[in-house]
Amino acid sequence: MIEKSEPGAAQYGNFINYYQFNPASNRMTALSDEFWTNLSKRLPENVCCLDVGCNSGELSFALCERLKSLGKNCVFLCLDIDSVLIQRSIENFSFEPALTFKTLDITNVEDQKEITNFLGKWGKLNFDLIFCFSTTLWIHINYGDDVLLNTIKYLCGMTNNLVIEPQAWKSYRQAVRRVRKLAKNIFDDKFSQLKIRSDVVDVIGKIISEAGFELHEVGVSEWKRQILVCEKRYP
Ligand SMILES: C[S@@+](CC[C@H](N)C(=O)[O-])C[C@H]1O[C@@H](n2cnc3c(N)ncnc32)[C@H](O)[C@@H]1O
Repeated sequence: MIEKSEPGAAQYGNFINYYQFNPASNRMTALSDEFWTNLSKRLPENVCCLDVGCNSGELSFALCERLKSLGKNCVFLCLDIDSVLIQRSIENFSFEPALTFKTLDITNVEDQKEITNFLGKWGKLNFDLIFCFSTTLWIHINYGDDVLLNTIKYLCGMTNNLVIEPQAWKSYRQAVRRVRKLAKNIFDDKFSQLKIRSDVVDVIGKIISEAGFELHEVGVSEWKRQILVCEKRYP
């Protein structure tokens, strides 16, 4: 992992001060009461959630609080590739037993076994709800097209309800430019090999749709990113 000496640049989007420049409230206000009411109807009383790329846990905590306000009992597995951020999350939210934080790479098959173990602990085969906010770009530029698509398919296979905020292509150029300042060439090969480019949000939507989901845009976040709720057609 590269040094995080420059704020605003990090190889995996593992910004140490992320919630200072993109507070959790930005996404929470983008999600309407109508969204939560509709989602709530599709969820059981005991909700098992996965939050992919939780950073230091602020958004995971806000999502958990919101579900609890709808009368749900929830447990969350919040994962992030960066162990420093996970340690910080554990320290920040030790008072909230519903949140479990783990250092895991969502693309890694061995780490996916740990995700399955978490489900088993709660007597579930699938997550009732998966959140994946602002993480697809980092998976894509670090691991390439196939891993991005396989990860989306994996998430679709693990739930009937997916809430996803994919980054559009314009964010890629900005991200790569910033990381180049830290460590020249780190993305040069990988980035030039990507075949999925300006249509990345559509491609992600298509994969989710082909996996049997209906997609609805439920909000646009402060950074003008679409938030999509994806509901399995025949759960
Ligand atoms: C831009 S932050 C978004 C944080 C949070 N989801 C939000 O929107 O508020 C992206 C997060 O994804 C994490 N991440 C990137 N690649 C990952 C991977 N392969 N597996 C798990 N986490 C990953 C990063 O460490 C970072 O904390």
